[in-house]
Amino acid sequence: AAAVEAAISAFREGSPVLVHDAADREGETDLIYPAGAVTPDAVSRLRNDAGGLVCVALSHDVAETFDLDYMDDIIDHPASEGHELGYDSRSSFSLTVNHRDTYTGITDDDRSLTIRELANVAATPAEIDFASEFRAPGHVHLLKAAPELLAERQGHTELGIALAGAADRAPAVVVCEMLDDETGGALSPADARAYAERHEFPYLEGSEIIESLD
Ligand code: 5RP
Ligand code: CA
Ligand code: ZN
Ligand code: ZN
Repeated sequence: AAAVEAAISAFREGSPVLVHDAADREGETDLIYPAGAVTPDAVSRLRNDAGGLVCVALSHDVAETFDLDYMDDIIDHPASEGHELGYDSRSSFSLTVNHRDTYTGITDDDRSLTIRELANVAATPAEIDFASEFRAPGHVHLLKAAPELLAERQGHTELGIALAGAADRAPAVVVCEMLDDETGGALSPADARAYAERHEFPYLEGSEIIESLD
């Protein structure tokens, strides 16, 4: 589809895209950048214009190479038992991290450094000692894609990683939900599309990515 081609071109240039997963899933639109292109200005856009949780999705293989498990499997606390998401069989959350060269970890400079360095290490995972570069807990949430990617799960985690692969970028993308400042709810698809048009960012339905890339 033309929108998917536009999204791949945007990713090649380091520009963001907007992806609405599906009305019968979260019904959320995430602002998504290839992690290697994230500047302090991009973090500012994510927290001001999107407003949700700033997360970095990694491919399953990269996360496995770095021994990054799902949070579900890491947490030994009753609160992590019987997790029933209304919209999917499991959350893709893994650890939270900061790059070791950050100070508090939350500033736009610090978060953009952590996010860019995640793209760096995701490009050549076999050569990396993850713990020597990142500390946990931190201020950037990691997400771990499903092993079979879109064939297995169709979240923003997998949709973003599929786009990065198609654009020949490292398998690391930053995602953040677009929230509505008036209602506090998810920004409607119509409003998310209008935002995309205003900024000349591609807007995609998850189904378009699944049809083209799965
Ligand atoms: C983390 C989330 C987001 O929805 C994010 O898009 C990743 O989740 P998923 O892959 O389930 O869509 O909840 O802020
Ligand atoms: Ca805002
Ligand atoms: Zn999502
Ligand atoms: Zn969400």
